[in-house]
Amino acid sequence: MTPESRPRVLTGDTPTGRLHLGHYVGSIERRLELQEEYDCYFLIANMHAFTTRAERSEEIRRDTLEIVKDWLSTGIDPERSTVTLQTEVPAIAELSWFFAMLIPFNRVMRNPTLKTEIDAKGLGDSYPFGFPMYAVGQCADILAFRPEFVPVGEDQVAHIEMCREVARRFDVLYCSVNPKADDADFEKLGGVFPIPKALVGRVARLPGIDGIQKMSKSLGNAVFLSDSAAEVRKKLNKIFTGRQSPTEPGDIHNALMQFVDAFVRDPNRVAELKDRYARGDNLGDGHIKQELGEHINALLDPMRERRAKYEGKAGDDLVIDIIKAGTRRANEQAERTLWMAKEAMGLGFFRRGLRLE
Ligand code: TRP
Repeated sequence: MTPESRPRVLTGDTPTGRLHLGHYVGSIERRLELQEEYDCYFLIANMHAFTTRAERSEEIRRDTLEIVKDWLSTGIDPERSTVTLQTEVPAIAELSWFFAMLIPFNRVMRNPTLKTEIDAKGLGDSYPFGFPMYAVGQCADILAFRPEFVPVGEDQVAHIEMCREVARRFDVLYCSVNPKADDADFEKLGGVFPIPKALVGRVARLPGIDGIQKMSKSLGNAVFLSDSAAEVRKKLNKIFTGRQSPTEPGDIHNALMQFVDAFVRDPNRVAELKDRYARGDNLGDGHIKQELGEHINALLDPMRERRAKYEGKAGDDLVIDIIKAGTRRANEQAERTLWMAKEAMGLGFFRRGLRLE
């Protein structure tokens, strides 16, 4: 199959800092699989970073390069997949306006992911208008590429659901698709937009090393993909279980055992560890942490190797070249979509070209 005839996948990350193991098992791993067969677009949602950090633009610029370095280190391959920068894909901003007309204000404000974020970040009622707007923008991020799948962490499913509603509404309103049609048939029936499906990763929720909360950079409980082997071991040693001795029967659902589930990839070994843990069969937490450290470092070692290529100023330049080539390609797709949408809306006045200098 030529790259263009492969079905498309779109996903993105807001550049907020380094990626951690929770991101890896929750979403990145899935992207690596999809990259083998699909035409994948990976969007750096730098506009979204401004919704809560508009005054920290320097930091956002740095995080933008960092996140791409994280992606490349995991094996996202710019020869096969398209890495693109949201702020240089103008069709996304334009589609956001049109989509904002298709979704009731109250529906946006009821989006549970936005609500959770407002609470978690303590935004109160002082967040900017652009903050809820990002959820509409995310519909455009996705639909600009008319993808079949959107691989995301569990926390993003509410956004994808909103995106599906917008796509249906557009197709019904401007392409006369029967609102009762099956989601799978919308494009076939003349809709501009397919109804994309969320794909949630293998591990929906990885706990942090505090053993309680979900792994998250802002909670200070994360193991980063860019941590050294020694840092990884040190952090794993902090996972608290409250267990006193290797002969005390342990809870096979505690944070440590969730790590075992996520990172020991041999099911027989996992079963054996759980069995002995549950019985208190002379299996200390320290032993498990040691074994886990080996697995996690074996996973991260190739990432460390790939990342080395992108260090320093020369590395930044390489990354910027990758983003530029990807953004060119992304604009071809997004401009095509925008034109299709405009034609459907009776806005097909002038076709335009777009060129990155
Ligand atoms: N909101 C997502 C997050 O915080 C990032 C994102 C932006 C995204 N645009 C997207 C994810 C489009 C999937 C599809 O992780």
